[in-house]
Amino acid sequence: MKICVLPGDGIGPEIMAQALRVLEALRSDGLSFEMETAHLGGCAVDAAGVPLPEATLALAKAADAVLLGAVGGPQWDTLPREKRPERGLLGIRKELNLFANLRPAILYPELANASSLKPELVAGLDIMIVRELTGDIYFGQPRGIEERNGERVGYNTMIYSESEIRRIGKVAFEIAQKRGGKLCSVDKMNVLECTQLWRDVMIDMAADYPDVTLSHMLVDNAAMQLVKNPKQFDVVVTGNMFGDILSDEAAMLTGSIGMLPSASLDANNKGMYEPCHGSAPDIAGKGLANPLATILSVAMMLRYTFSQEAAAQRIESAVKSVLAQGYRTGDIFEAGTRKVGTVEMGDAVIAAL
Ligand code: NAI
Ligand code: MG
Repeated sequence: MKICVLPGDGIGPEIMAQALRVLEALRSDGLSFEMETAHLGGCAVDAAGVPLPEATLALAKAADAVLLGAVGGPQWDTLPREKRPERGLLGIRKELNLFANLRPAILYPELANASSLKPELVAGLDIMIVRELTGDIYFGQPRGIEERNGERVGYNTMIYSESEIRRIGKVAFEIAQKRGGKLCSVDKMNVLECTQLWRDVMIDMAADYPDVTLSHMLVDNAAMQLVKNPKQFDVVVTGNMFGDILSDEAAMLTGSIGMLPSASLDANNKGMYEPCHGSAPDIAGKGLANPLATILSVAMMLRYTFSQEAAAQRIESAVKSVLAQGYRTGDIFEAGTRKVGTVEMGDAVIAAL
């Protein structure tokens, strides 16, 4: 297994250090891997003048998987757009053709009070949102702002080809097969032709997956249902824009940004794995950050890129176990639990492993 490690900025290096300790601890299971570390984001701007240096991209392309901390911070906010740390992130996603974004929203029973919803609505929540990441209105041409009939108009193009829909559909159906056998496709076919095609293709594909029950939901209703009765969902598949919004909504149902991993995959299951949160400049360098989202991203990497399901489950079980033992970083702390820092949380996970 060749892994490219990009710690990034802010809390990135702190949380990555704990994730790598967990990975190292799995060597005793017979897992063997090589790791190379490089700069991405603000640290790359400081070291090389650009957020995505050629050397970083070359390493990422040569690896089977990329493990990323987070990028960005206030010290780079005044740079021109093309030099900002976020550009590094968008650039690497595009260069690696990572079209499938997997965003689990899991609420561990011990953290049910962290949600903004009533505990009984969300306890045990376990949703997987599969978001298409390289198409849709975010990339469609033509786009722009121009003068028409004496005023400015702004426009974008929502566009998906059948092959783009099929490749994300395949990822979603296969995940549904391995989970509860339920897939909900979200669109806006009553108004948008582009998503009519989306629905037609999903229905067509369903014939190849007799063990998966496909349902459809309009996106406005899906936004409502996610806060009304979120546990009705198992796997959700949707386009780039709807997925952007719904995955953030689902993430917040869990109330704990420090707990959520993500994966972005290409057609050969090469992937980039990263926590959903950012670089948290407010707590960077203080040893306070929750490393669990990054540790759970390692589990996703083992599952989706390396097909090491047993090792992935070992990490996930260890995380459940440390929560059950009461270990909490500041972001998930509540009275009666045991407050720890980044390194002690890493220690606890390794002990549980
Ligand atoms: P953020 O996710 O970095 O922080 C939001 C809040 O959550 C902060 O109070 C932070 O302390 C807390 N938080 C985040 N992760 C945590 C963790 N692991 N443990 C404990 N607390 C945690 O989002 P924000 O503040 O909007 O952005 C900060 C910087 O991160 C910006 O430069 C932004 O552009 C960048 N960013 C990078 C992302 C990435 O690399 N994928 C994603 C989102 C933001
Ligand atoms: Mg978003």
